[in-house]
Amino acid sequence: CCTFLLCSSPRLSSLCRLQRIHSHMMSSRAEPEVLLEKVGCAGVITLNRPKFLNALTLNMTRQIYPQLKKWEDDQEAAIVIIRGAGGKAFCAGGDIRAVTEAGKAGDALSEDFFREEYILNNAIGAYKKPYIALIDGITMGGGVGLSVHGRFRVATEKTLFAMPETAIGLFPDVGGGYFLPRLQGKLGLFLALTGFRLKGRDVQRVGVATHFVESKHIPDLEKELVDLKSPSAEDVSNVLQSYQNQSSLDSEKPFVLEKHLSDINRLFSSSSVEGIVQNLKADDSSFAKKQAETLSKMSPTSMKITFRQLQAGATLSLSEVLVMEYRLSQACMSSNSFSTCLSSTVLIDKDQSPKWNPPTLEEVSHQMVEQSFSSLGHKDLTF
Ligand SMILES: *[C@@H]1O[C@H](CO)[C@@H](O)[C@H](O)[C@H]1NC(C)=O
Ligand SMILES: *[C@@H]1O[C@H](CO)[C@@H](O)[C@H](O)[C@H]1NC(C)=O
Repeated sequence: CCTFLLCSSPRLSSLCRLQRIHSHMMSSRAEPEVLLEKVGCAGVITLNRPKFLNALTLNMTRQIYPQLKKWEDDQEAAIVIIRGAGGKAFCAGGDIRAVTEAGKAGDALSEDFFREEYILNNAIGAYKKPYIALIDGITMGGGVGLSVHGRFRVATEKTLFAMPETAIGLFPDVGGGYFLPRLQGKLGLFLALTGFRLKGRDVQRVGVATHFVESKHIPDLEKELVDLKSPSAEDVSNVLQSYQNQSSLDSEKPFVLEKHLSDINRLFSSSSVEGIVQNLKADDSSFAKKQAETLSKMSPTSMKITFRQLQAGATLSLSEVLVMEYRLSQACMSSNSFSTCLSSTVLIDKDQSPKWNPPTLEEVSHQMVEQSFSSLGHKDLTF
């Protein structure tokens, strides 16, 4: 869930190379990583690291959270809008590079990063005023956590959604254990295990976005929202609905998973990840073969943790899920298997074949999985 992760994807590697060049060429004049402004009736948060696809840092979280809480009680701010700068990404994830390095060195950053990010995710889920995320571009991992729990999420044709954590030895956190099992059928488990990418209108079709508006209309939409006079959630909803009504782009394009939904429900219904893999291998369809191939590249430990996370999360509140996920984040950071996973992400870049430890699902014991869910005592996440 990070720029790092995106760079390991062949499809986006040229983009990442370009970014590296850009960042070398950039002058050292420091731009703020996040802009927090009062515009009209709105508190506006702009994630402002376009060269890094607005990947979320601990510093950004530390600026956003107190301001968000302040706006919640401020008479002047009736709504909150969150957006990404640069036109490519809303937020490509948490910038976990520094975090994982700190994790290996036993630094407190890996505790603080996840703790403060999850506290922010929880605040967004419980926000008392209309919270509107304009997810006009890449929205992955940590970027999903900054949007999906809010009241309104506006996708455009440029939205690219994924929870790709199983590919880097992590799990779909930031409340993935809450929203994924609440999507239709086994869709959430499918998205979580495979990291499947959804684009544009499909992001709304699965329920990750609440609205779809053409990207070129977003500036007008923003202006109309900030110009509202003490708007209620219903007023905001009406504005979003009217912009959605004006957007016909891609409306005839069918949902990319439409033909596969019943297969997903059948193939991903099993009491174990091994069972799912067996189902996929035993199926003749090219769709199933492709998913089996995808899962064969993912971290076996991640897949088993993710399976259990979604199973448990289905009956928990968002806050309870985040407490669970914080335990998992710390287990991942401290376990040997995780550092091995992380060093292998470097390998993904080179030869596309990560080496996981343990290398197979069968070798990831029930006990190893259960241990990652155990209480951290006084270090547990509290709100
Ligand atoms: C985080 O912000 C502080 C000041 O607020 C700054 O000194 C520090 O360099 C920043 N850290 C990073 C990694 O950007
Ligand atoms: C949007 O379109 C729907 C269905 O056509 C209609 O019921 C609704 O009133 C429209 N809303 C706005 C705000 O234009």
